[in-house]
Amino acid sequence: MRVLGIETSCDETAAAVLENGDRLLSNVIWSQHEVHGKYGGIVPELAGRRHVETVHLVIEEALRQADVTLEDIDLIGVTNGPGLVVSLLVGVNTAKALGYACNLPVVGINHLEGHLLAIMLQEPVAFPFLALIVSGGHTDLVRADAVGDYKVIGRTRDDAAGESFDKVAKMLGLGYPGGPLIERAGREGNAAAFDFPRSMMENGNLDFSFSGLKSAVRRLLEKYEAEARTPSTADVAASFQEAAVDVLVAKLFQAAERENLKRLVLTGGVAANGRLRQRLQAESEERGYECFIPRPVFCTDNAAMIAAAAYNKYRNHSVSSDVLTLDASSNLAF
Ligand code: KG4
Ligand code: ZN
Repeated sequence: MRVLGIETSCDETAAAVLENGDRLLSNVIWSQHEVHGKYGGIVPELAGRRHVETVHLVIEEALRQADVTLEDIDLIGVTNGPGLVVSLLVGVNTAKALGYACNLPVVGINHLEGHLLAIMLQEPVAFPFLALIVSGGHTDLVRADAVGDYKVIGRTRDDAAGESFDKVAKMLGLGYPGGPLIERAGREGNAAAFDFPRSMMENGNLDFSFSGLKSAVRRLLEKYEAEARTPSTADVAASFQEAAVDVLVAKLFQAAERENLKRLVLTGGVAANGRLRQRLQAESEERGYECFIPRPVFCTDNAAMIAAAAYNKYRNHSVSSDVLTLDASSNLAF
């Protein structure tokens, strides 16, 4: 079974072809970072327009790299939420048009479920497991009991983890998207230079809050500015990253203990962060947990994960084709 995955929920136009759930034939990602970079964040209208311009080229390229045509495709999976509605609509309408024209089933996939099942592209993780989805829009702790059977047991009350990386990077004048830039800038820094707060760490509370951490960085920068000094960007980036990583890792283990789950999955754009990956792997080993982290290219937005989710859901009948009425929803529930 060959699945064409399409993802346009944010600022990546992506298409992928996946064979039998685990053979990735192509994975094309056209990032719009250069479009939004100068604004320091995503401009929805520009994102939607760029998706319209590129989505067919990206799909054609994915088919070309996979050495197939639409006639070789059996199923189309497309992200239908959550995300920017002007972006989502481009992927959804393209998928519906292709499905209608080629008589193919089309299934809508929740972007977060794509992140959750991205690990299946690499290895079939057995259920149940506990996942931490850390992206630009979400910080969710999810208990996964089966494909399609998920329970969110913790989430952020304010900024998402990735959002805090992006905002701190902007304050430091590093650019957009901030996550990889903070990681790079912090590489030479001292992670203990500044003692930033680790919020909501008390046992039993599985929610997150990152706005206090962001504000602490802002106050530090303002204090230095008032004294006509500049702190080392490397030290601020490294200290901020360490505080964020401390909270993410600690909460994941708290949740795992509470749910009595020994398999952990870390996923979403922030899971591309080297320090976070390294800390989780080391602590999992120390504490006797199994931890699974997709390769960085499957952590940040991509269509391979959407194809994987479509394949797994369609096969176990937890989603049905909706060529005519599928719609995009900016706040699609998980
Ligand atoms: O999953 P994703 O690509 O898109 C959303 O669904 O939001 O996540 C994007 C987020 C951005 O906030 C970006 O700064 C962050 O993931 N990110 C990182 C890294 N790479 C991407 N954060 C920390 N370290 C990284 N290496
Ligand atoms: Zn994402």
